[in-house]
Formats: sequence, structure tokens, C-alpha cells
Amino acid sequence: MALLGLDVGTSGSRALLIDETGSIIASATEEHEDFASPQPGWAEQSPDDWWRASQMAVRAALTNASCSSSDIRGIGLSGQMHGSVLLGADDTIIRPALIWCDQRTEAECQWLTEQVGRERLVELTSNPALTGFTLPKLLWIRAHEPKLWNKVQTVLLPKDYVRFKLTGERATDMADASGTLLLDVARRQWSAEMLKATDLDYGMLPSVHEGPEITGQLTPRVADQIGLTAGTPVVAGGGDQSAGAVGMGIVKPGTVSATIGTSGVVFAATDQPTLDPEGRVHTFCHAVPNRWHTMGVTQAAGLSLSWFRSRFGAGEDDGRNPYDRLTDEAATAPTGSDGVLWAPYLMGERTPYLDSNARGALVGLTATHTRAHVVRAILEGVAFSLQDSFTILEAMKVPVHEIRLGGGGARSALWRQIQANVYRQQVTTLATEEGAAYGAALLAGVGTGVWASVDEACDTTVTVATRTDPNDADAALLERQYARYRTLYPALKTIPGFTK
Ligand code: XUL
Repeated sequence: MALLGLDVGTSGSRALLIDETGSIIASATEEHEDFASPQPGWAEQSPDDWWRASQMAVRAALTNASCSSSDIRGIGLSGQMHGSVLLGADDTIIRPALIWCDQRTEAECQWLTEQVGRERLVELTSNPALTGFTLPKLLWIRAHEPKLWNKVQTVLLPKDYVRFKLTGERATDMADASGTLLLDVARRQWSAEMLKATDLDYGMLPSVHEGPEITGQLTPRVADQIGLTAGTPVVAGGGDQSAGAVGMGIVKPGTVSATIGTSGVVFAATDQPTLDPEGRVHTFCHAVPNRWHTMGVTQAAGLSLSWFRSRFGAGEDDGRNPYDRLTDEAATAPTGSDGVLWAPYLMGERTPYLDSNARGALVGLTATHTRAHVVRAILEGVAFSLQDSFTILEAMKVPVHEIRLGGGGARSALWRQIQANVYRQQVTTLATEEGAAYGAALLAGVGTGVWASVDEACDTTVTVATRTDPNDADAALLERQYARYRTLYPALKTIPGFTK
């Protein structure tokens, strides 16, 4: 028995096969073409390229696997959220998809906020209008490319285009649909009022399902093409954040993840839609039936470190991983980086400022500071930025009993310790961290009866590997440093051109 998870990401598509204990049988990733940026702040990708990469990744995973395609009991999908795939008559692709990081829709967001009213928008969709979300993208295309817009018959999210190719069905999951601004997140259905306010047709949208629900079966033609078995069920799955959370066992209130990838995400599962009145964290449906989640996003988390590495190098090449060299260098500077502060706003910021024009800053330098201080300040500044999300969760009374670390921030012992100190709580890492494809495979297992519930799937497969406790003296020092960090953005705001 095997389960296949397929994650249609930004840089590539990843296929992962697991067994009923959650062990990895095989995996393969196929890169996507770089996204096109016809103008600054724009980001577009070709849905056909996702489909090409998905097929190749699945074929490659099967080639590496010890099982045969008939062992695959179910397929789960996950993918980058918020993108706009537009299909015309005969299901042809009308234009490249605008993807999650495309920022061209400021005017549409303003219009939406005025048209619907800021409060009503949050009542209806649980979120404010943000430039990356799908609906503002549709409004931009309608306003700027009316000839193309008039041809649109179907709107899909990125992974759901791959689903459509696999099964012929137009379907999505609650979690991914939450990032469109068209879902009534509290009631878990498309919002008739949002469709009416924006004069959009319900018939354009896919059907919407809970994560483990079966949305269709592999068609004989496609099964033949990629070496799978016709009729294999495909479950709804989840947007990459919620599928990734399932893969880390973040499914019940109390257990929260802090993942530092390119971006940084603090993710908490909730029993109710829990809102920040200021909209600084997103409130979406979870990929777990009848649960929701709140999520704070730091735009440039791991990106802060990879930016430093690519611009200023990682020190002398001694054959080791450049990030290990950088964090070893940072460990030679003291806690608190002798006062140096890093504001990580290299790509604007979502939580807590919702300011796509925010700019980064390195503050507090003297002639005695070294590279090590700067690298350590970056690691601390990114943790402070994630702490901003924890601070908001606390104000929302979202419980945080356990913090599980993911991504690059979990791999470095120094960054783990910094995070434990800044969050002032024990942090854990997991035995297997395979990202969103893993969660998608677990959802496929629940949908096809391998496990009775997502909770059971996670209890069976997700285990804690390491625990790091805060160090009281360092935590107290970093608390003072965090208080100084909190004054950075308001100060930057006074510098013309540095913020909104
Ligand atoms: C979620 C988000 C990203 C994208 C790309 O709100 O913007 O997770 O899905 O990975």
C-alpha cells in the first residue's frame, strides 16, 4: 500500500510516496521555469509548465519506488496558493497565471475595500483585501485585459489545474479556497455576497471540498501517460501552508509551528474561525474538516539569510554547507549581537504591518562590529519578526502549548536556540519533515480509509525528534532587544520612501 502526495510549489513540483506507517518510499522533484516578471512586482507562471513538471515528478518518484502503481491507494494534492488559472472554452489556458507573490493589485484592493466595506469584507471572508489574494487578481485582469477576461469560463487555483488534468474535475479544497477572498471562511462555502459585489459568476468557480474528500478519479488516458492506475482516487488536499501543517501534526489547538523557509510562517490550528480585528494574520479554513487556522507571515525570513549569503558570501569555502558556515560564524558573536538589529523587510511585510512597500534595515552598527554580529543580528531579527506573530496570537487568545520548528530555521542548532529564547518556550523538531507533499499524502490516506481521521493520521506518523529549552539569561536579554526591534518599523516609517 502506498499513498502519493503531489505538491505544486513555486520553484518546482514534488511527488512523494509513503506507506501506512508514514515512512517515505520514494520522492522526486521537477523544477519549474522561473516565474516571469514583466514589470517590477509582477509574477506570472505557466500552468502548462506545472502540469509538465507534475507528470515528470510522479514518473520519477515511481521509477525510484519499490512499489508498483497499483499499490497506490490514493493521491493528495497541495500547492502554492492564491494564483489565478483562467480557462476558456475547450478548457484552453487564456493567459499565464498571476501567482501568490504578484503585487500589482493595490488599486483593486482599495476598490474592493471601498465597495464591500472593510468590516463587511472581514465578516464575509475573515480577511482584508491583500494584494496577493486571487480575487484582486481577477479584478485586475477584468479591468486591464477585458478581451481576455471575456473568454474566461473557469477560474482555478494552481494545484487544481493539475487536478483538472488528472481527473477532469473542477474542484478545490477549503484551505486553498480561503486565499481567494471569495470563500465565506466561517461557513465553508463560496460567498454569494462577494460574488454579487464583484459581479462574478458562481459557475466559474470549482466545487469546494474538505481536505480528505475524494474529488475524482484518475482518467484512463492520464493514468496511461504517467504510469499510474486508472480510477485511483484523488482527494481535495490543501493549500501548501495547511497541507504542510498536517505533515507537521499541526491539526489541533495548542500545537503551533514556526517555519522558516524563504518566508516565515507561524501557523496555529483552531476550532473556530479566530480573527485579528486588524487583519494582521490570515484566518483560513484548515485542510482538516471543520477546523480553521490563523497564520502570520514574515515575507523575508530564510530569504534574509540567503540574501546575505548571495550578496556578501558565506566566508571561506571549506567544503561545508554555506549556511552551516554562516551560522557557525554567527555563534561567535554574543547573544543580542552587541546591539545590532535587523529589520527583515526585504520584500515588504505581511505580519504585522501589511505593508508591501516596507524596506529592510540594519541598525546600531559601530566600527567594532564584525560580520558575525551582522549574521547573528539577521538570525535574531527573523526570530523577532516571527515573535510578532506569536504576540498577535497571544492577544487573540490562541493557545500555544508546543512550538514545532520547520524549514531551514529548524536545521541550525543556533537558530533553534535563538528561537527558543525569543519565543521564551521550548521548541521541538520532528523526525520527518517533508513539507506539504507529506501532508497531502496523509490527507489521501484519510480519504481512502487508511486512517479514520487526520488526527489519527498525524498521531501515527508524526514524531518529535529534538527539544530545545530557552536559556533564561539569554531570553531576558533578547526580550529587551525585541522591545528595541519593535521601535524599528515606526522609525522607518518616518523616512520618506521606506514604507507605505
Ligand atoms: C500563503 C502564501 C504562500 C504561497 C506560496 O498565504 O502566500 O504559502 O502559497 O508558497
